[in-house]
Formats: sequence, C-alpha cells, structure tokens
Amino acid sequence: MTAEYKADTPVSTGMTVVTCGLEPSFLRALHEHIENYLPFVKLSSAYDSVDNLSAAVDDVEADVALLSLDQVTNAAKDQDELIEAGFKKIILVTKGLDPFHTRVPLREPYVEMMYERTPMRIIAERMVTFESSAPSRLYTNVHPENEQTETGKNILFYSAKGGVGKTTVCLNTAVQLSQKGYRILVIDFATFGSVGLQLQLPRQERGLSDIIGALEQPSIGTEELNQVIQSAVTSVEVHGHSIDVLTAGSAMKMTSLDLKKTDAILEGIQDSQYDFILMDTSSDLTEKNIALMSSSTDIMFLTTTDLAANWALLAALDLVDTLNKPMQNRYLILNHYQDALGFPVPELESILSMNISVVIPDKYEQIQGYANRGILIAEKSNLKLNRHYRQVAHLISPVFTAKERGERGGKKRQKQKKGAAQT
Ligand SMILES: Nc1ncnc2c1ncn2[C@@H]1O[C@H](COP(=O)(O)OP(=O)(O)OP(=O)(O)O)[C@@H](O)[C@H]1O
Ligand SMILES: [Mg+2]
Repeated sequence: MTAEYKADTPVSTGMTVVTCGLEPSFLRALHEHIENYLPFVKLSSAYDSVDNLSAAVDDVEADVALLSLDQVTNAAKDQDELIEAGFKKIILVTKGLDPFHTRVPLREPYVEMMYERTPMRIIAERMVTFESSAPSRLYTNVHPENEQTETGKNILFYSAKGGVGKTTVCLNTAVQLSQKGYRILVIDFATFGSVGLQLQLPRQERGLSDIIGALEQPSIGTEELNQVIQSAVTSVEVHGHSIDVLTAGSAMKMTSLDLKKTDAILEGIQDSQYDFILMDTSSDLTEKNIALMSSSTDIMFLTTTDLAANWALLAALDLVDTLNKPMQNRYLILNHYQDALGFPVPELESILSMNISVVIPDKYEQIQGYANRGILIAEKSNLKLNRHYRQVAHLISPVFTAKERGERGGKKRQKQKKGAAQT
C-alpha cells in the first residue's frame, strides 16, 4: 500500500524523502514539520518494504529514506541494498531502546538510528544533514583555549529544567576544589540567583548588578570594566577555605544579559587568576546561556529521573552540538536518584548519547535540612553525600587520593618505587 502526501512543490534544488513502515502519527508530525520549516524538502510516497523502497530512488529520485527498524529483517543486507540503490541518507526509526544496546552495526555515515520519540525537529535536522559531524555555527566570540591543562577551566552547571540541583552541585563542588587549595570563583548567572542566599551573603551584595550596570554605560573601557569586576567580587570563607563569588543581580538586570553583555563579562573575567571558574545559571536557552555554553571549557549537564527533564535536555544537547567547541568537555550528572524507582539509567544514556559520570542520590531531608540553615553539605565533611560532590570535582581536577580511588597499596607502592629509583 502506498500513501501519497501532499507537499509543496519542491524547488529544483530540493530534496525528496521517502518513508517505509512508520506510524501514522509519526508521519503526520514529519509532514507538518517539513511543511512548516523545510520548504525545500518533498515528502514523497510511503513504501511498504525495503525492496520497494530501493526502487524509489529511480521512481521518484528520492534522496533520503526514513524507515521503521521493524521493516529491517537483515540489518547488514538491507542497509547495503539501500546504499547501493543510491540513497544519500537512511534513518532507521526505532520504537524501543533495545536496539541501541544491541548496537545494530550502522553503515556510517549513510545510516543513522533515531528513537521514534526524539523531538521531530532533531530527527528532521539529522535527515537533511549529510555530514557525520554537525555544522559548526558560532554563537559567541569568547573561546578560551582548552588545552589539557589542569587549571584555567570555566565550568558551567546547566540543566534544561529548573530545580534539578545546579546550585547545590555547583557550590558543593566549588568547596571541594577550594579544599584542595585551588583559587575558585563562583559566578551566579541565574535569573533568580540563589548562590548569595546559600552562602548567607547580605542581600544587597553587589555582584553582577554592578557589572551589568557598568556595561549599560555607553562607552566603558576594558580597564574600567575590569576594575568594576574586581570590586564586585566577594570573598567567602567556607569550611576554612576561601571562595570568591560574583552574586547574581536583580532578576530584571539578569534578564537584560544578552549575548554581547554576557560575552563582555566573560572576557573581563578571563584575565583573572583563578584556577577554576564555576558558573551557575538558570534553565533557559536564552542568549545568556548560549554565550555561557560557548565560552565554557566544561559543561556539567544536570538531570534527574524525570522524563520531562530529559526531553528538554535532549533539545539543549542538540543545540550545544552546534557550538564550535571541539575541545569542550561535557558531562552528565544524574541528581535526585532513587534506587526504588528502578530508573533505566543505561536507556537514558542511550537516548542522550552520553554516559552518566556521577549519580547523586536523592537525600532531600539531609540536603534541604542543612540548606535551610545556610549550611552546605561540603561543610559537614563526615557526610557520605560528599563523596558524590567530590566525584564531580574529580571530573574537573583530581581530588581523590590513590587510596580513595581504590588503588591498592597506593602509598606503599610509591615508596617501593622511590626505593627502586635510589638503588
Ligand atoms: N540530591 C538531592 N536530593 C534531594 N534534594 C536535593 C538534591 N540536590 C538538591 N536538592 C534540593 O532540590 C532543590 C533544588 O536544588 P537547586 O536549587 O540546587 O536546583 P537548581 O537546579 O539550582 O534550581 P533552579 O533551576 O531553581 O536554579 C533544593 O531544595 C535542594 O536543596
Ligand atoms: Mg539554582
């Protein structure tokens, strides 16, 4: 059975897409997306078998095939047949996540596999992309070099959904790093910033308000801006170590942070002598966050076992992929984890195409109990939870000793080595 879809007349340089075995609801969403956003694409006939699909290249001069993985009986043979037929791109659409585990060997770069429930925007973008690497678009002009150095990193804590734990993880990680003797600056870029509150700083602390105010002046020089930045920084003593902090400005001021202003702040801070700059922010895809994502050497993506948080994250990751940051480190942190939920961690990793680096358990009473009293978990060094924040810190710079890493006889072996060198 073939079903025709009415589509705009393609322009001569257009592209023809054929499908096979896809659900009507998926086809409708695809059709709608193409009609609204991809006028150069013609969605042609839907075919009912891989063999008939192969013939489509001649019949309708098709370029791209989207077919349900259910239609594929012999992965190797069917892929070869479609490539041989002349398709420039083949997308296998899967209803389940198992195929990602069993790893159907894909004939790259022609064939890609995508999950049926991935947002159509992302599927459609992959459909019309003929290179395996994503196109590089420049969103901001601040690109600090990310050499494999131990210090000099700008680390952004981001989640696509709010309340996932960015601030909690950012601050506890900062304390863990400061305890290793590093010079740390925490910047609160959140619209409704709460770093100052968490650290019990006076409400009228100046922070980013002053800097944004200075940037609103018609002609502020670099020198002048650097001075404003320096005097806007507050030093806080946490658990015997000092951390520098730039608190958020008023929500109105924070909302005015566009690409240009955010870049200017980041540029001003580049010159400062911090080992690590940890940036907390809010969960939106505004120009401010795009600038922060572009400038950071490391992004810690926070998520939870909440499906909505992960769908939103998928879209954010897709956007980050377009940023021209080949050296950027990206990590996924699963917060609020509850064993009892039986959440399928490996499946989440498949959907997001990212490994989870750290899993932090859900300990609301403990974390909130201390937070309400203005105490960070990192200040209670005997709490087991700290191990997880140290794991996050360890992604930035090694904080665990050999013994803590479970390397047997760490010190003893070092001594032996020394002894061997002397003889
Ligand atoms: N592992 C955890 N277990 C239980 N509660 C947690 C955990 N981590 C953070 N919380 C609590 O969850 C709430 C949200 O945390 P936090 O403010 O750090 O999130 P956020 O992502 O910064 O939020 P926002 O998007 O509003 O800035 C807080 O009440 C915090 O105490
Ligand atoms: Mg926060």
